[in-house]
Amino acid sequence: MFDYELFQNQLKTNFIGQNIKYFESTDSTNKQAWNLINLKIDNGTVIIASEQTEGRGRRGNKWFSLNNKSLTFSIALLKNTQIKRSVLALMTGLAVIKGIKKMIDIPCYLKWPNDIILNSKKLGGVLIETKGHNVVIGVGINVNEDYNDFNPEIKNQSISLKMNEKKSTEIELLLAHILNQFELLYKKNNDKIIKEWLEYCFHINKEIQFHNHGKITKAIFKSINNDGCGIVNIDNKEILISSGVIEL
Ligand code: BTN
Repeated sequence: MFDYELFQNQLKTNFIGQNIKYFESTDSTNKQAWNLINLKIDNGTVIIASEQTEGRGRRGNKWFSLNNKSLTFSIALLKNTQIKRSVLALMTGLAVIKGIKKMIDIPCYLKWPNDIILNSKKLGGVLIETKGHNVVIGVGINVNEDYNDFNPEIKNQSISLKMNEKKSTEIELLLAHILNQFELLYKKNNDKIIKEWLEYCFHINKEIQFHNHGKITKAIFKSINNDGCGIVNIDNKEILISSGVIEL
């Protein structure tokens, strides 16, 4: 069930989420977004599902989510020439943090490039897919799960808002707050987005590990550049990392 009235009362956008397509159950909201783009939909349409049976994660991973407990949605951006894909990814993570903070005062952070972190565990993630200038931005957030709801594979690295707050959060309100923040950020320039992203980064000046030409390399994470690449320091030399996963 999706309470449209609750959602619409909180939504303050001009185009993001003004059209919403809700699925009780679907394979993947990203996949549905692409189907709908082919059938012609409005820019900023949001696709949300109570249940995803084949949720997609980054780097070919599966995204596990729980019926009615997770917030899983996708935003269809048509003919986006405004913001680069890499910066859109950062921007979406930032919109999620800012949206959550509008509702709950919790210390959540960003892990490069776009993981949402709470108590050093993963609260959510973002998957960006592009075809030409069309973009589908998928977001998955653990909202009302209990510890035992998580799949054993991800149980110890995952957290939900409920596990932290000891109470449930209304999915519709959280979605509206995130979309409000997304549209506000979408109007800003790269510099401002990057500056704000850095304020919420969990690991500035901390040691991280990443895969570098097939081996695991240790480095100090310093910052990100205007293209959203990570700037890391190895033996006092700065290098750029442009994609992948870092470990803390
Ligand atoms: C990650 O691997 O961290 C990104 C996960 C993104 C999952 C979301 S859930 C809604 C949307 N639909 C999908 O199939 N995937 C994204």
